[in-house]
Amino acid sequence: MSALGRMAEPAEIARAIPALCGDDLGYMAGSTVLVGGPFGGGKMQMPPGFPARCSIGAPAACDSHSGRAYRAVMTGLDRPRRLRRTPALRRLVAETTLEPRQLVLPMFVADGLDEPRAIGSMPGVLQHSMDSLRKAAVEAVTAGVGGLMLFGVPRPEDKDATGSKASDPDGILNRGLRALADEVGDSTVVMADTCLDEFTDHGHCGVLSADGAVDNDATLHRYVEMALAQAEAGADLLGTSGMMDGQVGAIRRGLDAVGRTDTGILAYAAKYASAFYGPFREAVASSLEGDRRSYQQDPANRREAIRELQLDLAEGADIVMVKPAMSYLDILRDVADQSTVPVAAYQISGEYAMITAAAQRGWIDRRGAILESLIGIRRAGADMVLTYWATEAAHWLS
Ligand code: PBG
Repeated sequence: MSALGRMAEPAEIARAIPALCGDDLGYMAGSTVLVGGPFGGGKMQMPPGFPARCSIGAPAACDSHSGRAYRAVMTGLDRPRRLRRTPALRRLVAETTLEPRQLVLPMFVADGLDEPRAIGSMPGVLQHSMDSLRKAAVEAVTAGVGGLMLFGVPRPEDKDATGSKASDPDGILNRGLRALADEVGDSTVVMADTCLDEFTDHGHCGVLSADGAVDNDATLHRYVEMALAQAEAGADLLGTSGMMDGQVGAIRRGLDAVGRTDTGILAYAAKYASAFYGPFREAVASSLEGDRRSYQQDPANRREAIRELQLDLAEGADIVMVKPAMSYLDILRDVADQSTVPVAAYQISGEYAMITAAAQRGWIDRRGAILESLIGIRRAGADMVLTYWATEAAHWLS
């Protein structure tokens, strides 16, 4: 800053520099110029449209100045491209890493299947049978993924108003968790979706009160029962995805009361009511009519995510998650900046479907787009990313 309390105006510099330096000194828009003179000194970017007589290269200096005029030193054109020149340089300076261990694979296990079943809106993703679940889990773990997040798809006739099968040890999700714990439990982190929506006949994430609204506190009791069954089945982490107030605290207390102090909670801290969940609803054969706007967050809100984060931390979350990922990278950055626990992001079904569909049409490069989306989510602050490409990306990365 100058003694005048301001930087030199472009027009002042424009007048001064040619007079001082003649035609030897060039400067370009975007280059940095140090300016000195009777008012002190300062540094400024040459503005766009500034007369450009370019001598690009070595820093040029000019200090032949009159008593009351300016001294200008051109510091040379900044050349960030130097560090992009070779693959080795780029690797050396890369700020963000993407490693298999940072990827978590969401998986679906469906009741009553002998063979895995394709999901139309998520080409490449399957509803697994118990057998194919085990095989896919081994493949994922062998590829090096950091963990598996399991969702259960019950038979339609097994759904009811309170989602009974969610807490039944013989419900499909708990059977699937036991299979995963048995098959890969020693070498990966087994995670369970702790939410009722797959198991309720109305498709909501909680139980309903008489007026049809989702009853927060009655739902918490069901979540605790579900959590205990999942911990019993061998889940290391419980993914509280229902967006009920107090769910993390209720589940933490419920686990601790029976001595399950080692079972952790991966809290969906900021989960938005998103149109990008569409394909997932097919994946789990959701019965939902209507929407989840009375419990999932409004996409318009940013500050609210921090409130949710703070509550989940206070209630005992071990890991916090932001979901969806790509339309919420600002939220992810906010959460990552303030969280005292590891941060996850969920690259959801609609994000998977968009890239897959565009790639199928030849409109984008599939592998490039997948890896770029994942590095972007990591760069925004996610320590780990739930992605349906976890196994495939892990193969690419190792
Ligand atoms: C709900 C739940 C949702 C997803 C996972 N669990 C969202 C919803 O149905 O509102 C979405 C996952 C995805 O879209 O990939 N408990």
